[in-house]
Amino acid sequence: MIPEQNRVTQQVFPTLIQVTTHPNAEMVNSALLSDIEQIREETPNGRPGNWSCDLYTTMTNEGRLQGRPAFKEFADFAKTCAMQFGSIMSYKFGDKNMHLNDCWLNIYTGGHSQDTHVHQNNLISAVYFVAAPAGCSGLMFYSPRQYAMIQPDLTEITPINAIQTEYTPSPGDLVLFDSAVKHSVPVNETEAERITIAMNFSLEHT
Ligand SMILES: [Fe+2]
Repeated sequence: MIPEQNRVTQQVFPTLIQVTTHPNAEMVNSALLSDIEQIREETPNGRPGNWSCDLYTTMTNEGRLQGRPAFKEFADFAKTCAMQFGSIMSYKFGDKNMHLNDCWLNIYTGGHSQDTHVHQNNLISAVYFVAAPAGCSGLMFYSPRQYAMIQPDLTEITPINAIQTEYTPSPGDLVLFDSAVKHSVPVNETEAERITIAMNFSLEHT
């Protein structure tokens, strides 16, 4: 018999997923949607040809949306949330500031998805949900243990043993995570448009 007090069980390397709902989500999303309509008219699909998944994205051809007047207030909100994420992670800001590097549009309809990926050379990545219709895909996150050689049967799936976990979004949600965390968008099962703004942040000298 081993006494309980002889055992120490630690949880190390927890993965921080921070979700902030915009306090004026309806108003902000309505303003963003007007500008998004214009972006779609002006911008062809920038989806790289070697992607196996399909969606509309401006990642490669209109990736600085934060410069558009309609995005300014939203970008400030996202930056504030990224700074809060950095505080929880104990970033030493010093004379550096949170910098929004990229900001692009993604639109998913029926059958669209996004393969598993990370965002190299960035600190924090984020996804904001302008439209998240009922039944649309969530945002799938993968554990660093996803490559474990053997997975046993489980009596229940918990945050400790899960290999993947899907966040189910609502419109106005801003989801932030470390850029090294693997994530994907499962196949979207609804024809209604799932509209997101994706972002990458880093710490830069002011
Ligand atoms: Fe991503």
